[in-house]
Amino acid sequence: MTKALGIVGLCIAAAVPTVGAVSFGVPSKVGTGGYAYAPLDPAPVGISFEFFAFPSYFTNVTATNQCLANWKALTGVWPPIRIGGTTQDRAQYDATTSAYVVYSVAKAADAPMTLTFGSKFMTLAGTYAGSVVVGLNRGKNNIENTIAAAKMAVSEIRNLLAIELGNEPEYYPKDGQPIASGTWNPSTDAASQNNWNIRVGSAVGKTGIIQAGNWNQAPPQWGAAQLMAAENATVKQYVRHYAHHNYPGGDVKKLMTHPTTVKSIQVFDADVAAVRRAGKEYVFGETNSVSGGGAAGVSPTFGAALWTMDYVLRASYNNMSRTYFHHGTVGNCQYCFWGRYSMGTPYYGAYAAVALMAGARYLTALDTGTTNYAAYAAFDASGSPIRVLLYNSDYFSGSGSRTSQPFTLTGLPSGTVKGKRLTAASSSSRADQGNDISFGGQYFGNGTCIAGGAETYETTTVSDGQATFALKATEALLVYLQ
Ligand SMILES: *[C@@H]1O[C@H](CO)[C@@H](O)[C@H](O)[C@H]1NC(C)=O
Ligand SMILES: *[C@@H]1O[C@H](CO)[C@@H](O)[C@H](O)[C@H]1NC(C)=O
Ligand SMILES: *[C@@H]1O[C@H](CO)[C@@H](O)[C@H](O)[C@H]1NC(C)=O
Ligand SMILES: *[C@@H]1O[C@H](CO)[C@@H](O)[C@H](O)[C@H]1NC(C)=O
Repeated sequence: MTKALGIVGLCIAAAVPTVGAVSFGVPSKVGTGGYAYAPLDPAPVGISFEFFAFPSYFTNVTATNQCLANWKALTGVWPPIRIGGTTQDRAQYDATTSAYVVYSVAKAADAPMTLTFGSKFMTLAGTYAGSVVVGLNRGKNNIENTIAAAKMAVSEIRNLLAIELGNEPEYYPKDGQPIASGTWNPSTDAASQNNWNIRVGSAVGKTGIIQAGNWNQAPPQWGAAQLMAAENATVKQYVRHYAHHNYPGGDVKKLMTHPTTVKSIQVFDADVAAVRRAGKEYVFGETNSVSGGGAAGVSPTFGAALWTMDYVLRASYNNMSRTYFHHGTVGNCQYCFWGRYSMGTPYYGAYAAVALMAGARYLTALDTGTTNYAAYAAFDASGSPIRVLLYNSDYFSGSGSRTSQPFTLTGLPSGTVKGKRLTAASSSSRADQGNDISFGGQYFGNGTCIAGGAETYETTTVSDGQATFALKATEALLVYLQ
């Protein structure tokens, strides 16, 4: 990335403070220009549903299907889902119940401490047309019950991608889980994972069926590289891929600032590289802005929406195959993309990321990750650039004047390019509080997730292969090159 001071920066938006343009060269072909290129999954942006809440999302939350269908309309592929979380290790399969899930809670906002689920739970998961990862219980140390559930998952879920055996097992001692009653550390957990992977994998008669890992504490201590080192060939054949969880946290400003996001993903680089050397995938199996359902002042805001966008793009660029954003208790979930009655602001950021990567085969970051100004380019199967996403992560709280940053792209085809802007009044704007979040002039309806408003593109003329776009602080622009 080069910083080109001068004319370009001066003639844009003279009414607001401006600085020199940042400039990014768009490679004309994938593999060129000295950039790193990540191969893309057909649907890198996924959703994770907390185990006990999954039936409610699929039977009693209208927006669920529409929010997922909106992405399918962009990519041609239903987004991948994962069903799991803390309550997967509190759940036991009950072959006799005709209910999806059985539990009781003192308040609707609570997650159950214990629950059972029936075969219908898996049948419901089998109605989804996209890929499904199901998380089962290891904590309770009842492998026969987990094998029975796994057999049901295999028979009922047509698009079953993988099974998890345990969620965030590093916390088992704290949670009083029986399997961790003796010594419990990365090496005992690895031995346990390996043993369960073989026993469950052989019981269901499927290799390449396990999503291994699933920790939240950072690698390398809790990481795929150390787990792989403990696996023999028998175990390896049952592992389809590896997953890690991540909740970066922080206030809105820290969360949304691009270099912070880059650093939070770099933590996984060595682990990702080790897994990919073994020819397997690495995913963020469960992630979102702030752990424990999100933070009220952070997770439902436009700043968090921009974080969502930047985070999944940077994760994809760093070779995470898929990123599953977690959705917890319906009605008690600050980071959720949608609820029963209202729209969640982070959905807009995820939507912009899906729109950038839709149908693309490769992604690169044009920036070095060291300033607040980010740029990603997506390439099609023929290796041509199709879209570029620009992100100004300067924080705008809503008070004082809002700065504007010119972004210059070079190496563009002649003619014009069109763009869709992701914008809102400030970093604290919320769709569920009427603060007018929009992407290309459109919004998503509360409780429906149906796009409304006129779809609006802005047009920019390319001259000498260059075009300059002004992005206000806390704003993003998706540029369509074709
Ligand atoms: C759906 O959610 C509403 C609101 O919480 C609740 O009253 C109703 O019982 C739920 N219905 C089902 C089928 O879960
Ligand atoms: C592979 O490891 C498992 C436990 O992780 C063990 O039970 C099995 O005997 C090992 N197989 C071989 C061939 O060493
Ligand atoms: C992602 O993987 C590709 C190979 O598939 C590699 O060329 C690239 O350098 C990797 N990206 C990063 C950021 O490590
Ligand atoms: C969503 O609901 C909020 C709160 O009632 C409201 O302010 C906002 O205008 C609604 N958004 C849309 C797009 O209808």
